[in-house]
Amino acid sequence: MDRFVKNFIGMSIIYLFIASLFGVAMLASPPMVSLKFVHSHLNLLGWVSMMIYGVGYHILPRFTGKPLKSPKLGEIQFWLANIGLIGMLFFYVLESTNPETGVYKTLTVVFGLVEALSVFLFFYNMLATIYAKSEE
Ligand code: HEM
Ligand code: HEM
Repeated sequence: MDRFVKNFIGMSIIYLFIASLFGVAMLASPPMVSLKFVHSHLNLLGWVSMMIYGVGYHILPRFTGKPLKSPKLGEIQFWLANIGLIGMLFFYVLESTNPETGVYKTLTVVFGLVEALSVFLFFYNMLATIYAKSEE
């Protein structure tokens, strides 16, 4: 198993753990529900997407009998997906507690774009693998 595949799966489980604690905090304290975006995206971009990236990178090339187009891009995607998610959620929380500055909103969007770039790298690497011409 490639190192970035193992790391995607490991981080995915860590995000599930943090998101679940956040979910319980929202149950316990209704004002926390204003940060529902943090809980939902820790779950959906952290737990769910990263588990799919990890399993997808490992299994889909084997299903199609072709090597992954670029393990290097997979490694880069791992870092961009994590930096984008953590940065986006961190600045979203700062923005919601200090809405007047505007700086935090810009930074939330910048890290959101980093996350979107990581999604694009997965999109490219998977499709370039699955639709690669066979060598026979
Ligand atoms: C211990 C586990 C969990 C707890 C205690 C929990 C708790 C909550 C709470 C309290 C809310 C806010 C509901 C409201 O708007 O009043 C919420 C929203 C949400 N949760 Fe969880 N959750 C858990 C796990 C999950 C998981 C595993 C996922 C996805 C894989 C998930 C996805 C979502 C989403 C997408 C929302 C937003 C839904 C909406 O906007 O209506 N949650 N959760
Ligand atoms: C680059 C990636 C993504 C960005 C920048 C993003 C951004 C957002 C934003 C700004 C909202 C509205 C939050 C609000 O009402 O304050 C939202 C809501 C939502 N997104 Fe995403 N999203 C991304 C990826 C995803 C993915 C991959 C999923 C599902 C697998 C997803 C599922 C949802 C759901 C269920 C909601 C409604 C629940 C909520 O309000 O928290 N998003 N997203």
